[in-house]
Amino acid sequence: MNVLVTGGAGYIGSHTCVALLEAGHSVVIADNFSNSRRDTVERIERLGGRSVKLVEGDVADERTVRELFEQNAIDGVIHFAGLKSVPESVAQPLRYYRNNVFSTVLLAAACIEHGVGKFVFSSSATVYGSNDVPYREEMELRTPTSPYGSTKLASERILTETAASAPGFAVTLLRYFNPIGAHPSGLIGDDPNGVPNNLMPYITRVARGKLEKLKVYGNDYPTPDGTGVRDYIHVCDLAEGHIAALEHARPGTQVYNLGSGSGVSVLELVEAFERVNGVKIPYEFAPRRPGDLPAYYADASRAERELGWSAKRGVDEMVRDAWNFERNL
Ligand code: NAD
Ligand code: UD1
Repeated sequence: MNVLVTGGAGYIGSHTCVALLEAGHSVVIADNFSNSRRDTVERIERLGGRSVKLVEGDVADERTVRELFEQNAIDGVIHFAGLKSVPESVAQPLRYYRNNVFSTVLLAAACIEHGVGKFVFSSSATVYGSNDVPYREEMELRTPTSPYGSTKLASERILTETAASAPGFAVTLLRYFNPIGAHPSGLIGDDPNGVPNNLMPYITRVARGKLEKLKVYGNDYPTPDGTGVRDYIHVCDLAEGHIAALEHARPGTQVYNLGSGSGVSVLELVEAFERVNGVKIPYEFAPRRPGDLPAYYADASRAERELGWSAKRGVDEMVRDAWNFERNL
């Protein structure tokens, strides 16, 4: 397949491009580099052993999307391009809706117009809102806690309704849990701009001495050690989930959780990082972060049953590869 990967230079997109190349697919990356670097594309080519086509542009721009589909014979789309900071989305909701939702509308419309039958979308566990754990795909979704989350829910609905109206159009909504880690080569990984919001890149920067100490947001949650519990998934497992999703695409809308299926607390992740990498992580407890949920993790059985996919790499591999990438920067 010739796969259009929007946001292919980003954290999850870059790992997925490598997996696509390794699986024998061709890749067209469309990225505006608003949160990534050009040299990542060369690294993808090095790791994947083949070249990719790069189109630099904004997929929330109608003309860019039209040209992408006119100038490339595309068989499927994986739509990663999006802004992903929760606090930024609260401050700039319209920028988030424009970027994340308008891009989905334009890409879906172009697929219908050009007869492109497969669309895989990067959704998030945030669409479950505050719900019982583990999260199951058939649960009723609750209002997400941020404009960022609302853009994911809106995109899911737009794609679901489009698939219902267009016979043969195959939409796969992938709800990611917490991707961490990096490619074992250390060439690609998560390198956010500015001070990281997310836990793993914060830990690696503390380990490197770029930040002084980790703030653990909340130690009074109803969890075994009082700190927040999440379902961390190695980014290479997540990348492989996209190949499985593309290869099993069928008309209509399919929804899959991509997670490991088990919960890990903040302190457990810190402990694993220290033990595996032999580096101390100074930390202090801080108040709960507004909007955070105490604990959630995936029921990942549907992906295993229907896609033949499950997460293979454990927490030790995640923290090892995250640290290897940070030391390589
Ligand atoms: P990222 O910021 O590393 O990658 C996104 C990429 O999209 C970047 O390369 C950025 O430059 C590009 N981009 C953004 N807007 C664009 C636009 N309008 N046109 C062209 N390119 C654009 O983020 P990521 O962690 O790789 O996340 C990828 C997707 O997965 C996002 O949609 C994100 O919301 C979703 N997601 C991420 C997580 C996570 O924890 N990382 C969790 C759930 C869902
Ligand atoms: C966050 C977003 C979520 C988004 C995901 C991926 C919020 C409320 N949720 O998920 O919508 O899909 O990122 O981009 O922002 N923690 C600390 N100290 C830190 C950072 C985090 O203790 O410096 C804790 C958090 O309280 C949480 C856990 O670590 O318990 C994981 O946090 P994080 O990596 O930010 O992910 P989420 O909050 O799960």
